[in-house]
Amino acid sequence: MANTIAITGATGFVGAAVARRLAAAGHLIQALVRPASVHRQANDIGAQWIEGDLDDNDCLRQLVKNVDAVIHCAGAVRGATREQFYRVNAEGLDRLLRAAVDQPQNPRFLLISSLSAREPEVSHYAASKRQGEVVLNRQSGQLPWTIYRPCAVYGPGDREILPIFKWMAKGVAPVLGSGTGRFSLIFIEDLADAVVDWLEHDSCQFATYELHDGHPGGYSWHEVIDTMRQLRRKMIIRLSIPLMFVKFVAAVNLLAARTLGYAPMLTPGKVGELSHPDWVCDNTPLSRDIGWAPRILLPEGLKLTLGWNSI
Ligand SMILES: NC(=O)c1ccc[n+]([C@@H]2O[C@H](COP(=O)([O-])OP(=O)(O)OC[C@H]3O[C@@H](n4cnc5c(N)ncnc54)[C@H](OP(=O)(O)O)[C@@H]3O)[C@@H](O)[C@H]2O)c1
Repeated sequence: MANTIAITGATGFVGAAVARRLAAAGHLIQALVRPASVHRQANDIGAQWIEGDLDDNDCLRQLVKNVDAVIHCAGAVRGATREQFYRVNAEGLDRLLRAAVDQPQNPRFLLISSLSAREPEVSHYAASKRQGEVVLNRQSGQLPWTIYRPCAVYGPGDREILPIFKWMAKGVAPVLGSGTGRFSLIFIEDLADAVVDWLEHDSCQFATYELHDGHPGGYSWHEVIDTMRQLRRKMIIRLSIPLMFVKFVAAVNLLAARTLGYAPMLTPGKVGELSHPDWVCDNTPLSRDIGWAPRILLPEGLKLTLGWNSI
């Protein structure tokens, strides 16, 4: 059945893929877009665009008016201060939630949080994502909510992991420290499918779910490099980068960002996330509750991401 869906972050990597899948499934989409977003043109998904941001209560009320569900994908993923992350990931969510709760007919609410919320002490980003979950828990009233905690998401259009995959494809792989920490991965289209499946299962409420590609025990960077090497059928040079060196570069970058006023990706907090030993997660509860199963494992996902194959 076609639903009317309000979505945030539809100009971003995750939100655009989710919006495309929703549109393909026949749902009507109202999407929040910041007037200055440079990604709007590239994400023409036939949505009704509502201009504004998560600071703007009026436009948030317009966004969620009479919708069946709200899918909140917008988020601050880079920043120089705690406030920059909290302002979007906790306070912005709070405003969106209040607008949704004020609707006479409460829409269902899906928050795209992050696996990092499991370890809020690691970085301001992780702490702000956990705080967003706390806000949802406390302020939601009767509104039926679900939290998705995806692990690292990759695929075409990614702005974080894709540059590293491109280096590997060229034959050079930077490895942070020993590279033995383990992490799960999920291909973007599998995450988008999980959102569409959530829409079809309204029994899935007041629960937090981790999502990954189903590979038990996750990966180490060395395993990712080995997978890429098998795809390329050529050697890949591993460049081991000492953790202390990366921490130093991150501290300098943070200082520069605060001085010059840009939003940095590489910060001491990001290094904390990257060097954490365990970002492995478990799909079982979500698969049990909505029947979703990821389809794309790493070899196929890498080929799709690098444009070496098509779905
Ligand atoms: N990528 C991953 O590996 C990953 C993993 C786990 C969880 N997540 C979560 O998924 C969500 C999306 O991440 P992403 O990788 O797609 O990031 P992204 O590409 O940077 O997209 C972020 C989106 O949020 C929007 N946004 C940011 N601040 C906003 C504000 N104040 N008001 C309204 N919109 C705002 C951006 O709009 P503009 O176009 O205007 O910038 C953009 O559409 C985030 O919540 C992130 O925590 C991502």
